[in-house]
Amino acid sequence: MTPENMYPVKSAVKTKSYLKGMEAYQEMYERSIKDPEGFWLEAAKNLDWFKFPEKAGQGDFKRVNHSWFMGGKLNVTYNCLDRHLAKRGNKSALIWAKDEPGQYQNITYQEVYENVCRLTNLLEAQGVKKGDRVCIYLPMIPELVYSVLACARLGAVHSVVFGGFSADSLKGRIIDAECKIVITANEGLRGGKKVPLKNITDDAIKDIDFVKTVLVVNRTSAQVNMVEGRDYNYEEEIKKYRPVAPCATVDAEDPLFILYTSGSTGKPKGVMHTSGGYLTYAAFTHRYIFDYHEDDVYFCTADVGWVTGHSYVVYGPLANGATSVLFESIPSYPDAGRYWQVIQDLKATIFYTAPTALRSLAQSGDEIVKKYDRSSLRILGTVGEPINPEIWKWYHDVVGESRCDIVDTWWQTETGGILITPIPGVTPTKPGSATLPFFGVQPLIVKPENGEEVKGNGVEGALCIKSSWPGQARTIYKDHARFVETYFTQYPGLYFTGDGCRRDEDGYYWITGRIDDVLNVSGHRLGTAEVESALMEHPEIAEAAVVGYPHDIKGVGIHAYVILYEHKESTKELVESIKDVVREKIGRFAAPDIIHITKGLPKTRSGKVMRRILRKIASHEYGGLGDTSTLSEPGVVDNLVEEHKKLK
Ligand code: WTA
Repeated sequence: MTPENMYPVKSAVKTKSYLKGMEAYQEMYERSIKDPEGFWLEAAKNLDWFKFPEKAGQGDFKRVNHSWFMGGKLNVTYNCLDRHLAKRGNKSALIWAKDEPGQYQNITYQEVYENVCRLTNLLEAQGVKKGDRVCIYLPMIPELVYSVLACARLGAVHSVVFGGFSADSLKGRIIDAECKIVITANEGLRGGKKVPLKNITDDAIKDIDFVKTVLVVNRTSAQVNMVEGRDYNYEEEIKKYRPVAPCATVDAEDPLFILYTSGSTGKPKGVMHTSGGYLTYAAFTHRYIFDYHEDDVYFCTADVGWVTGHSYVVYGPLANGATSVLFESIPSYPDAGRYWQVIQDLKATIFYTAPTALRSLAQSGDEIVKKYDRSSLRILGTVGEPINPEIWKWYHDVVGESRCDIVDTWWQTETGGILITPIPGVTPTKPGSATLPFFGVQPLIVKPENGEEVKGNGVEGALCIKSSWPGQARTIYKDHARFVETYFTQYPGLYFTGDGCRRDEDGYYWITGRIDDVLNVSGHRLGTAEVESALMEHPEIAEAAVVGYPHDIKGVGIHAYVILYEHKESTKELVESIKDVVREKIGRFAAPDIIHITKGLPKTRSGKVMRRILRKIASHEYGGLGDTSTLSEPGVVDNLVEEHKKLK
């Protein structure tokens, strides 16, 4: 029986679902834990292997050498394209929803295949070989998908950099991955605004001598600087190559991509995923968690610059032969009805987005949602941050007309695919809870102080995972020691997620947010240290400390405390110049919401900034600042509170 506080599954979803009820889920879950070997080898059969693997999982978290499907050989692009051609050659693989409202382009599996083959040949002619890294800095256009798949076809490793990152960020990523080639566009188009991607690329690579080739797609009519012998026009070049190309045979554990993500310390990390396990996991989760069927029109709003776009716009859906919508625009362009219009126009059946978008859209009221026909929808998903129960209910009642099942999916760049989630048609849901683990996933809650496991229900602590799953990242590019240090040392033998979590009386998981120094701003991960080091580039700033605070739309807002070499009152110009330095060093989305100029920060006698206090002040929690007697200068706290009250 479903307890009263739960939302029962919807009968229409239930009828279609692969699993018949919670017992079927429990039975399958238990099988996946008791016999991971048998379970995952069976799941691997959903892919076409040139040589089927002999084993499923190997290795452990003590030695941090987990690997999957060793001995298996395959090609990822073959699985996403070639194998579908006979049956689905004329089916739309992609529907490109252009930035211009109401403009769509359907691209069949055959067309994607031909485009990918041409590009594979072109990359090969440019000297790209198996294992080489290729940087992709493109907007959400079909060439982005072609580029990713052409790399995978060659066995080259792609590093997609989100188009919102600045020249400095792009440069750091190109250098770290030693990319000899960059694929970009003259300009991107987002919400009618132009993004000068080629100029940014020029800026990023001006001091890098190993970038030998830049391929430039023309998304707009703008003329851009082209360097003779280095820069090539994509459209002109591609025509010179045949629309067929062989595909490389790669080992299951050969790298597929690097994706940079922020951690609590240092520079962004190049999270490395490999081929066989990742694709098995992306495809398998996509099928079960979105209850994907052949006739679905699947619309995930994520940008391919983030992991959600990798796993659930490109790899999972295409491996399953799905029609995947590639959305170039933003949710508010031309108005807050954009997503609903796309759903109506394309008759989307599955919709997957981020809570931050829903929070801002809900503010525009229900009428603009109801204006569009959403009767095609069956499943609604969310990802990236905790979803507030009110927004969950709005999504359920208004967007989904109380007819759709909601899947609140928890996962990370490092996990490759979804780990905690309801199964639509199966799992009764609770607004705000990601519910239960996916097959093969063993979450564990530990006491943050000592790593002791807290068993039973009605408990809270740090979220860890007990053993590996096929989609897990294998390493940080060129820095395995950092991989070990970041995820496997706090609680030896476990993977530490960085998230806090509660398991309620029914055994449901509630992710409470990051408990390390990572901020999740509008679903974008940023390290406080990363923002601080960007701030330190400002000539007037002597010291900076960055914390998050609850923000109505973004989920987490950025509050930057700064001390200037020569203290002065805050002015609009000064604040903007400080925000600008972060925009330049990281990207526009990373600009702090609040610049708090002050004279002193609370520090322990040994000089450590007390972030706990800064977080409380930024969150308007002026009472209960705890024991401040150990501070080197207790007066600074009162001063910060007074200043904060005056900030807008
Ligand atoms: C957060 C995004 C609550 C979490 C796929 C995690 C979530 C971080 C959820 C990873 C969710 C993701 N509920 N929090 N459903 N999904 N998160 O690497 O803090 O960009 O650690 O991957 O997002 O962000 P990343």
